[in-house]
Amino acid sequence: MMDTSEHHAVEALRAARHVVVFTGAGISAESGIPTYRDALTGLWENFDFAELATPDAFRRDPALVWGWYEWRRMNVMRAEPNTAHQGIAAIASKVPRFTLITQNVDNLHERAGSNQPIHLHGSLFSPRCFACARPHELSCGIPDEPQGGRRLEPPRCQHCGGRIRPGVVWFGESLPKAAWTAAMSAVEKEGCDLFFSIGTSAMVYPAAELPFAALRRRATVVQINPDLTQLDEVATINLHSAAADVLPRLVEAAWPNT
Ligand code: APR
Repeated sequence: MMDTSEHHAVEALRAARHVVVFTGAGISAESGIPTYRDALTGLWENFDFAELATPDAFRRDPALVWGWYEWRRMNVMRAEPNTAHQGIAAIASKVPRFTLITQNVDNLHERAGSNQPIHLHGSLFSPRCFACARPHELSCGIPDEPQGGRRLEPPRCQHCGGRIRPGVVWFGESLPKAAWTAAMSAVEKEGCDLFFSIGTSAMVYPAAELPFAALRRRATVVQINPDLTQLDEVATINLHSAAADVLPRLVEAAWPNT
């Protein structure tokens, strides 16, 4: 059963010329990947995410940080995209123009069929040398369980011998310039008229600037999040549902039996 807000979102989808979708950790929650605001659990429950996701943390204890990211990559490889990831790939195939921007470092959008999402915060699947920044090829299998619990010595760069680091953006680091430029251009210069913010607490800048940039361009902004965020006061439409529930409903209503 759809409510009025969902009907408005369906009408906006049908009329849209350029849809931009902006996602956060909440969209992978239903694939079993914990969000950042969830407390770290299990092996990592005594660690604060911000303690591990910094260049200094890696310099201090590279094996602990590499072990954590390989544990996360292993969880992603064992997870499956959910109906929210699939709904986004479906929207991309139905609208005249589509751009996907994600803060997530997993590859679930790609595995659901989304082409070349813009990864604002990097990816677990693109490690590079901490010293010379050359990309590092990961072995294709699921990573080994860190021996003795958490620590896993990072591999060494074949070019300079430096330690390999995760290809994610750490606190205190800038976003990849090309990714940020592409994201802002999609919202500000390429006629975005419908912007979805899905599964993000919209608290971490500069990424959290994107929905506000869309509003300034008079785009319709639809937020999908079961909880309240700072966007609730400004979004055109707020859908307080789980993404995996509401996205398939919107797609089916906008393009029935297709
Ligand atoms: N469907 C939609 N939203 C959901 C769902 C769901 N099933 N489950 C949880 N959420 C929402 C939560 O209510 C929360 O607002 O997803 C949001 C997740 O917020 P965060 O954990 O803060 O994740 P995110 O917004 O992606 O964080 C942004 O912060 O820590 C840094 O670099 C990290 O990329 C990350 C950035």
